Amino acid sequence: MHPMLNTAVKAARRAGSVINRASNNLDVIKVERKQQNDFVSEVDRAAEQAIVEVLLDAYPTHSILAEESGSRGDSEFQWVIDPLDGTTNFLHGFPQYAISIALRHNGTVSQGVIYDPVNNNLYTASRGVGAFLNDRRIRVTKRVNLQDALIGTGFPYRDFQHVDAYLGMLKDLLPRCAGIRRPGAAALDLAAVASGHFDGFFELGLSPWDIAAGVLLVQEAGGLVADFAGNENYLESGHVIAGSPKIFAQILQVVSPHLTDALKR
Ligand code: IPD
Ligand code: CA
Ligand code: CA
Repeated sequence: MHPMLNTAVKAARRAGSVINRASNNLDVIKVERKQQNDFVSEVDRAAEQAIVEVLLDAYPTHSILAEESGSRGDSEFQWVIDPLDGTTNFLHGFPQYAISIALRHNGTVSQGVIYDPVNNNLYTASRGVGAFLNDRRIRVTKRVNLQDALIGTGFPYRDFQHVDAYLGMLKDLLPRCAGIRRPGAAALDLAAVASGHFDGFFELGLSPWDIAAGVLLVQEAGGLVADFAGNENYLESGHVIAGSPKIFAQILQVVSPHLTDALKR
């Protein structure tokens, strides 16, 4: 394993213990509302602190982009961190949440870790080396027909500017695929595409820390990722479609009539 990936795994496991310990006592967790439907708890913050400590201890000159504490440092190496993806699930005891850590080198994601602390599932990927679940190689599905495909998504929940476009996409996709799921943690949705539980995934308005590690997992598992216009601007726009190659192409085709100008960027 690449030494930087190894450090990211250590950081993710450290955060996993913070989160697992806190999950035994959900009633006493202090929660703040960042904005409508957007919550942060002391657990998100403690997990992030644990991650940053491990990373900067090993690589003091690297820079950080973390959901709760923002960005710091200036280096060709940048760690992109979501300490708890699926906070709403976590706060409700719904066991679908994860830690996501990616490393960008000169802007390109080169290492990624997603750790599901409930099931002790560790997803890792290094660019050019492949994607793994607990050290076993994972690959996207070979499914060819959208009508057989299980698709993951995320509903708009905090920014409703694209809700009409999104509902139009959903309406067209529902009768054309085998099923649509909204589990509530984008990092795990992408991990599910990489490991072949989902054939595809699409969501609007995500942040780089939600998707950086998951996108690398999907690519290294043989899948394709793009923004809604079919380009590579997803880390900037936050609009993501991912999937096994044939299903990815069919999702892109179904959503494209619904693109507004804002969604083409
Ligand atoms: C959220 C989850 C959710 C997605 C949201 C994300 P958070 O992350 O990934 O599935 O729909 O867009 O913001 O806020 O729980 O880290
Ligand atoms: Ca997130
Ligand atoms: Ca988060």
